[in-house]
Amino acid sequence: MPVEVNVGLVGLGNIGSGVLDILKENSEIIEKRTGVRINLVAACDKSKEQLEKAITLGIPTTENFKDLLNNEKIGVIIELIGGYEPAHSIIIDALRAKKHVITANKAVLAKYGTEIFAEAQKNNVNVLFEAAVGGCIPIIRTIEESYSSDRIEKIYGILNGTTNFILTRMGEGMSYEEALKKAQELGFAEADPSFDVEGKDTAQKLSILAGLAFDAKIGCEIFTEGITKITKSDIDFAKELGYVIKLLAIAKKENGQIELRVHPTMIPASHFFANISNEFNAVLLSGANTGEILLSGKGAGKLPTATVVVTDIIELGSRVRVTQRNFENVKIMPFEEVTSRFLLRLNVADKPGILAEIAKSLGNNGISIAALSQKETNMETVPIILITHKASEGQLIKAIKEFESIKEIREKASVLRIEDFD
Ligand code: HSE
Repeated sequence: MPVEVNVGLVGLGNIGSGVLDILKENSEIIEKRTGVRINLVAACDKSKEQLEKAITLGIPTTENFKDLLNNEKIGVIIELIGGYEPAHSIIIDALRAKKHVITANKAVLAKYGTEIFAEAQKNNVNVLFEAAVGGCIPIIRTIEESYSSDRIEKIYGILNGTTNFILTRMGEGMSYEEALKKAQELGFAEADPSFDVEGKDTAQKLSILAGLAFDAKIGCEIFTEGITKITKSDIDFAKELGYVIKLLAIAKKENGQIELRVHPTMIPASHFFANISNEFNAVLLSGANTGEILLSGKGAGKLPTATVVVTDIIELGSRVRVTQRNFENVKIMPFEEVTSRFLLRLNVADKPGILAEIAKSLGNNGISIAALSQKETNMETVPIILITHKASEGQLIKAIKEFESIKEIREKASVLRIEDFD
């Protein structure tokens, strides 16, 4: 006898419609392989137009979520609306009605994760969210199950398909605008693309991963810098120096403190991450006993993401236990104390003594120069590229403040952080 899982689906946008496709195509093989029979009892969306596809497939539909909540047959609610509200309320209401929840909603989990997991445990039901981070990469399951016997110490991730797509295409000659438009056409981007390009989507995903890996309450206070200021010349300079620019998510646990950040980062062209292209995502976990683990796959897109939503349904059908997620209060490292090497790009007037003044400001703040490049131009200003030895963000902020008094520096210094993965 198969185990039957009776599901109510909320949100028939890109991913929701992908779930309908997969259930239509693969339900039979899923039951044969896993012994789990998935019954889609009803689908809900506030837009009549979005419900069309479900109606065509003969699935009962409603525009009112309460109909799913009050349907006693439904044991699992799949929330695929995205955004904070009404998604947050729907999840909480479903848990209180003792229904398991599956969601792909990283924004809600990053902001309300502690409340949601507590509500789930109180009501003895599960919340599964493999699709919330890294598209089809099984990263949640890897952290929660495969490596639950180890202590994860570091996480590095390329966690946003849209920005990785844009940076890849800019490296091949496309403009930023063309690449963003293409990503939107391919259905990778969020409804509001500023969430992608300003790094917020990545920060939400990092918050979820770090919370699970370090059993910690993280929330949304993460230093976040997006890719909107990255120019074609940044990408070309990086290439010339043997680096690639990626929007990297970094979390480390050291001496009881947690370091968290999201920013465009120069990574060596020989590193595995340098070859993660287009909408692909990658995660590198470093465990105390297991060492480094690398996972990569499509991080965005309808069917890759919908596939792991369906995997979560199968998972619910296959297990009876309720996951215990007990997150502790932790000390997050102040961003000023975070250290790395920096590449600084300064646009300066081509006059005697400027380089010495720049070096002095850096020296005054204990920052040592590791490499320097200035190319001849026939313009009034020249770009100076500096690579520093390791220094703290606090030291850098002070040096950049001193630059403000050097009137020959014509624009605010552009800063790229270099990751040595040490
Ligand atoms: N907008 C997201 C991305 C979709 O580009 O990665 C998946 O979260």
